[in-house]
Amino acid sequence: MPPFSVIGNLKMHLLSREECDEYLSQLRRESTGKTFAHARGVIAPPAIHLGRFQNLPPGFFLAAQNMGWETKGAFTGEISPLMLRDAGVGFVILGHSERRAYAGETDELIALKTRLALKEGIVPIVCIGETSEERDREETTAVIERSLRTIFNGLSSLFAERVIIAYEPRWAIGTGVTPTTADILQVKVYLRKLFSELYDPSLAERMAVIYGGSVKAATLASVSWEAEMNGVLVGGESLYPRELVKMLAEADSYFSNLQD
Ligand code: PGA
Repeated sequence: MPPFSVIGNLKMHLLSREECDEYLSQLRRESTGKTFAHARGVIAPPAIHLGRFQNLPPGFFLAAQNMGWETKGAFTGEISPLMLRDAGVGFVILGHSERRAYAGETDELIALKTRLALKEGIVPIVCIGETSEERDREETTAVIERSLRTIFNGLSSLFAERVIIAYEPRWAIGTGVTPTTADILQVKVYLRKLFSELYDPSLAERMAVIYGGSVKAATLASVSWEAEMNGVLVGGESLYPRELVKMLAEADSYFSNLQD
């Protein structure tokens, strides 16, 4: 697995087929002639556009922004993991704070979806993070612990280590404000401790943890590898293919230099 993931969450943008085609042609243009041995791009378009995003440039993989909790049946409006797989989706963002806030998603529901995604061979990108009030009350680790104990409850270690955890402080999403490197690192250290307890230290070491919230190329290093993160979840800036490719190139060059 490449050490670093740049995951673009396009949210409810790209409102037409034309906008999708324009986005994809920019992405192809920006990535032509570039290979990233140490980083991968993952793009999560709105579900209705997944079909248009089948032919991503090399080094890019397809993700969904959400998924249902059952495989088939009378679930109006839901999307089955089997449908996602059939559409070439390899990753799914689960429990994004916007889904928690606007669609009332709970850790219990996210636990069901996480299990199902893993069972169906789709990598879940599970979002967790505190609100600004919780941060002010110094409850960050308590909030994270509560979510993760529920989401990983009863999950085998084989499944657990396939999950990508996205630490996204809610106050950093779409605000232009980011935590310090030290703050993010503290969360990483805490997660290592929690997963050592829930599973074992070597699994805790291998767990992929990424950061999300106002990520930009200019601040990439300080919110990711400097804080021992294995990647980033990018919202606003992912609407610009040039910026996504810039981040991939920067990560790739950092990690390839490390290996020399
Ligand atoms: P942002 O969004 O980069 O626009 O802050 C991140 C996210 O919602 O995952």
